[in-house]
Amino acid sequence: MDKIVIKGGQALHGEVQASGAKNAALPILASALLADGTSIYRNVPALADVATMLKVLRTMGCDAERDSETTDVCRVGVNGHITPEAPYDLVKTMRASVLVLGPLVARFGRARVSMPGGCAIGARPIDQHLKGLKALGADIHLTEGYVEATAKQLKGGTVNFDVITVTGTENVMMAAVLAKGRTLMENCAREPEVEELAKVLNKMGARIEGAGTSSITIEGVDGLKPVEHAILPDRIEAGTLLVAAAISGGDVLVKRVVPEHMDALVEKLREAGCTITTEGSGLRCKAPQRLDAVNITTTEHPGFPTDMQAQLMALMSVSQGTSVISENIFENRFMHVPELHRLGADITIQGPTAVVKGVKGLSGAPVMATDLRASASLILAGLRAEGRTDVSRVYHLDRGYERLERKLSALGADIRREKA
Ligand code: EPU
Repeated sequence: MDKIVIKGGQALHGEVQASGAKNAALPILASALLADGTSIYRNVPALADVATMLKVLRTMGCDAERDSETTDVCRVGVNGHITPEAPYDLVKTMRASVLVLGPLVARFGRARVSMPGGCAIGARPIDQHLKGLKALGADIHLTEGYVEATAKQLKGGTVNFDVITVTGTENVMMAAVLAKGRTLMENCAREPEVEELAKVLNKMGARIEGAGTSSITIEGVDGLKPVEHAILPDRIEAGTLLVAAAISGGDVLVKRVVPEHMDALVEKLREAGCTITTEGSGLRCKAPQRLDAVNITTTEHPGFPTDMQAQLMALMSVSQGTSVISENIFENRFMHVPELHRLGADITIQGPTAVVKGVKGLSGAPVMATDLRASASLILAGLRAEGRTDVSRVYHLDRGYERLERKLSALGADIRREKA
């Protein structure tokens, strides 16, 4: 198993490019199921989660491959018989596999998808996905750990989500595009990735309005065609790179981002004392040696993203003053805290809130990643810590960051991947 070895203390300088967005790529790959023929996607990040989604699609009988290991192009062909089933073995490695549920029931009238269990960051039920599909007329049964959904023909309906859910909004949207009649979805997630999925579906011939707001209206159509599309940049990876600049006291331009998707983070980095400037489609972060503490409350987009909470906590652990970080999306997303303690951080958890007292410096130590964003947080802390930090269980990192250590190394970090 690989680990990442960092010798901290280098200020990062230079330019780096964000990859395509994981959380846009996953639903978009699943949406290929909605049309016969081959869809072509560009700017698809080379991530373990993307490989898992391609595998889920292949298991069903799709022709789903990356063109070659070195390209960002993936093709998904839906040309023959499809077995509308996502098995436990795959869903347990990536819960986003559940994104095939909506497209399968809409297109093939039947889906059998393993129920994702809880995960390291929370219980993460899918009741809202199921509520939405039921509102469109699907029959849903839970048997032997599987969700079985059937519907001869989905019908438009009204879906009022009780909880704002990103993949729930995406799943129901993918089902509604082929339902008969009009669907009104309320209290939808407004994340840019939801909007991006709607853009792709509309290119395929769907009629979706309002994606990116909390009310989405969909006029069902009889069929969709395959699509060619380049995935939008990953705002969380880009944000992680900006925080890398910030925590190291560096000056880095993160190129090819959508700056307006990153407003909440940029506002907090500025409040902490970074100078953030927009350069075309890039964001530059220039940071002093020590930043000021800022408070953070995670909320749904356009609020501060939960997927940046762990990284900001690493930054706050070496800022001046006390920062209060409230996690409102997932009930167990502080698993990085005990590991940050090992590096010398002073953090106290009180329910959904972490109180971070900034310390002057961290000192390197072996630490263990517990989930994707926690692993990014530990790497960021390692960039600042004196001495050597070994981050193990790097498979979490590889689920959502494309060669992060190479990107950081190109900016001047002393970081490498080693076989543990
Ligand atoms: N929730 C329910 N019922 C549901 C669905 C969600 O109660 O049916 C709850 C969840 O338990 C959670 C909250 O609603 O407390 C929000 O969860 P959401 O459904 O929005 O999360 P998700 O769709 O499973 C996506 C991202 C996550 C990201 C969250 C929140 C993908 C593939 N995943 O997950 O990404 O943290 O939205 O923004 O889009 C990551 O990339 O590290 C990651 C975890």
